[in-house]
Amino acid sequence: MIDQLKEHIVAVEGFTSSKAEEIEAFRIKYLGKKGLLNHFFAEFKNVPPDQKKEFGQTINLLKHSATEKVSTLKEALEERKGEKTQYGDLTRPGEPLELGARHPISIVKNQIIEIFSRIGFNVSEGPEIEDDWHNFTALNLPEYHPARDMQDTFFIQTDPDVLLRTHTSSVQVRYMETHKPPIRTISPGRVYRNEAISARSHCFFHQVEGLYIDTDVSFADLKQTLQFFTTELFGKSEIRLRPSYFPFTEPSAEVDVYWGLETETDYKMTKGTGWLEIMGCGMVDPNVLENCGIDSNKYSGFAFGMGIDRIALLLHQISDIRLLSENDIRFLEQFRSSF
Ligand code: PHE
Repeated sequence: MIDQLKEHIVAVEGFTSSKAEEIEAFRIKYLGKKGLLNHFFAEFKNVPPDQKKEFGQTINLLKHSATEKVSTLKEALEERKGEKTQYGDLTRPGEPLELGARHPISIVKNQIIEIFSRIGFNVSEGPEIEDDWHNFTALNLPEYHPARDMQDTFFIQTDPDVLLRTHTSSVQVRYMETHKPPIRTISPGRVYRNEAISARSHCFFHQVEGLYIDTDVSFADLKQTLQFFTTELFGKSEIRLRPSYFPFTEPSAEVDVYWGLETETDYKMTKGTGWLEIMGCGMVDPNVLENCGIDSNKYSGFAFGMGIDRIALLLHQISDIRLLSENDIRFLEQFRSSF
């Protein structure tokens, strides 16, 4: 019988449960009126005298373990009830999480990066707060150059040397200063211009500028690269280059892509011409190469720059550039994409 008691002690110590009914059943089994303990106590009188002492000690041990066990399990149960009121029902399924969507600017930027990465361009970035050298002077725009007015600049405080970059060409200067040709890099980023805000233009927007420097780079290489790009991004391969002017490129051109005139929207978007202007480009001016420590007798190259916001408007038929910075979730959640 002592052995039986000992087995029960092991069983009691091994018992655990977090359910109120199971704990109660356990209590009744051992400590209830008709429980095992009372049963063993009743047997006490039948135990031979020489075993009474050990039997008494063992049965007390069993009583003690069972009582302890019930009270610790009940305490734990109470604690969990407290948690329930604090955190709500922890067994309820969670709230469904809404998946976010990428911003249309990021989607288009990533598409552009992906297209150029396929022909060997890497990505370079630089600071949005720039100095005069990287934003202007190195790019063949010395102080008092009238072309500085082409891009109305935000200066920081009264220091004319600290400004918000007006284009990511500043990153290209930094890249040329720190890397040797051959160079193939695109520089995406946010730029700032002190312009009136309207449906068509904003005081900050985003650009991707590209730079290709090597020996024997020609204007034909530039055109070929841009044609590859427009075919990949818009599915349109017909482009034209109109002569233009940028201080940092010579010759310079504006790039138009033939959008077509199939729908009324095409007419509206292209003002009835079928052509859309999408970027500026040109052969890097030798002065710029020299300013950045690149031998212009040995190397030549091309550069181009486009506004991501405008391209996002075109690709997604968005009517107002301001929507891109208002963070209206009803607008943003329409852009779900793998990019
Ligand atoms: N930096 C010019 C701009 O912001 C774009 C450009 C880049 C033009 C490179 C020609 C070559 O308008």
